[in-house]
Amino acid sequence: MYRTHTCGALNTEHIGNTVKLCGWVQRVRRLGGMVFIDLRDRYGITQLAFNEALNSSLCKAASELTRESVICAEGLVIERERHNTQLVTGQIELQVRAFELINAAQTPPFTIEDDTDGGEELRMQYRYLDLRRNPLRQKIELRHRITIAVRNFMNQLGFLEIETPVLIKSTPEGARDFVVPSRMHSGQFYALPQSPQTFKQLLMVSGFDKYFQIVKCFRDEDLRADRQPEFTQIDCEMSFVTQDDIITTFESLVQHLFFTIKQIQLEPFIRMDYAKAMSLYGNDKPDMRFDMLIHDLKPYLCGKGFSIFDTSEYVSAICVSGAAAFTRKQLDELNDWVKRPQIGAQGLAYCRILEDASFKSSVDKFYNSSDWQNVATFMKAQAGDLILILAGPKEQTQKALSELRLEMGTRMGLRSNSTFSCLWVTDFPLLEWNSGDPNLPESYRGRWHAKHHPFTSPKSEDIPLLKTNPGDVRANAYDLVINGVEIGGGSIRIHDAALQKQMFETLGFSAEVAEQQFGFLMHAFTYGAPPHGGIAFGLDRLCALFSGSESIRDVIAFPKNNSGRDLMIEAPSIISAEQLNELDLKIKS
Ligand code: AMO
Repeated sequence: MYRTHTCGALNTEHIGNTVKLCGWVQRVRRLGGMVFIDLRDRYGITQLAFNEALNSSLCKAASELTRESVICAEGLVIERERHNTQLVTGQIELQVRAFELINAAQTPPFTIEDDTDGGEELRMQYRYLDLRRNPLRQKIELRHRITIAVRNFMNQLGFLEIETPVLIKSTPEGARDFVVPSRMHSGQFYALPQSPQTFKQLLMVSGFDKYFQIVKCFRDEDLRADRQPEFTQIDCEMSFVTQDDIITTFESLVQHLFFTIKQIQLEPFIRMDYAKAMSLYGNDKPDMRFDMLIHDLKPYLCGKGFSIFDTSEYVSAICVSGAAAFTRKQLDELNDWVKRPQIGAQGLAYCRILEDASFKSSVDKFYNSSDWQNVATFMKAQAGDLILILAGPKEQTQKALSELRLEMGTRMGLRSNSTFSCLWVTDFPLLEWNSGDPNLPESYRGRWHAKHHPFTSPKSEDIPLLKTNPGDVRANAYDLVINGVEIGGGSIRIHDAALQKQMFETLGFSAEVAEQQFGFLMHAFTYGAPPHGGIAFGLDRLCALFSGSESIRDVIAFPKNNSGRDLMIEAPSIISAEQLNELDLKIKS
């Protein structure tokens, strides 16, 4: 037997017992005639004690052990002379009688400590060592607990977990596909699923009215802190449901997770339609931990001779409570910040409301205190507040103001990661005009594009607009947003072949292309398709949120870096000429 206990199990109740432990050498310390080793496994740390007076050769061998070596030690559990209150096992130690060096370790490339000296890249290269560190290990354990809690809850509600294929067909919607060449069908390719969307809909046609799956999805798109090329969804679908049924069911799932994992009882989630989210927050995934709403100041600031405001499509502001004390230097720096290409504003105007309720603005030449008083009354701004104004083309400036709002929320300490604010955003537009999203292939540009996906149903009252004003059609689509992060999204689907055909037409697919790409789904709808809808949550994002991680990489055991590489296994990599030959592929030289 390798071990009788783990390194986190022993306490005063075990005093006097002979036990065997296995683990990694965290630290070796010499103190007079004693050697102490902190032995670590995923359950904790136990101190091993070696007494020179009792066994000098054993003591010498212990003192020569290198960090991270794997050993197996046998000995007597004794009470420590001085208790260590920081450790669960801190009241005892193991007086070692014998140990075996199972595997001596080389010096690791970085220290295996909570605060390591290793840089990001090095740790990615040696991810298996990084995973030994407590902060990462705890996140992986948390992910496990969340996954199990999801499965238990869904099972209790009668959902069936059903696997769908990973080698599927490339479809011309959504992000770019990762493709896999077929050896047996030369010149043909499978695609890896961006989500199991069409399969879960087919399962509804098959009568599995409550489906879920914890499933890997693959998208070849630009990466960010909350995007990986392969990520995991909690994918769900139900039949004979309305949007409200879905929202209620999955709100209860999320509440259950918060309660079981974090012991937080959440209030019912706020619901807001897309149009309102955009006008109040400039964003379809607003961070609701703080207010700082966007106010349209055109009626107050235009027509007073300031040409930038007079000629701008959009002039709007936020009020930052208690920020009037920002110095000129800080405001200049904020001005530079909004002008960065990532933010894209043309410049920042501001008005401070001083403690004596007077106003000091960056555009004093054009506005008097009665103008500012009107603005302040409209925005409910008070003495001590700072009003920040952006002007310019609507879409771009709204986006910039929304970024500025988040930045000010952060600077004012309003975005604590132990506060959670959950929001359903509903009534998204069905379609979006795609002028040039670099995330999408060339062929998608200059046409209507499904905002969610092409299987999302339009609101029935808006169906006539599909022909006349496609951009005004609202969808039965909803997103779950927590603390400004899109955690999940879904919709009620089209279940009628004729409407699905009309949708494909609006998206610019010819009848032949629609048939070739999605014929299987449209045919399925002619054999008795129930009304259905669903949602998918980003499991990685949910885990990052629960663990307070900045990036979803932290909650994925073996993630890719931000250029989509696995630095540990060195993927992607070239393949041999023989493999290329077999696949009938040529690499452009
Ligand atoms: P959607 O594309 O909105 O919907 O994806 C659902 C959720 O998956 C997460 N997510 C990601 N997480 C990490 N890295 C990525 N690259 C990534 N992309 C998406 C997000 C998102 O909210 N089939 C539909 C769902 C449905 O309609 O039922 C779908 O995939 O948290």
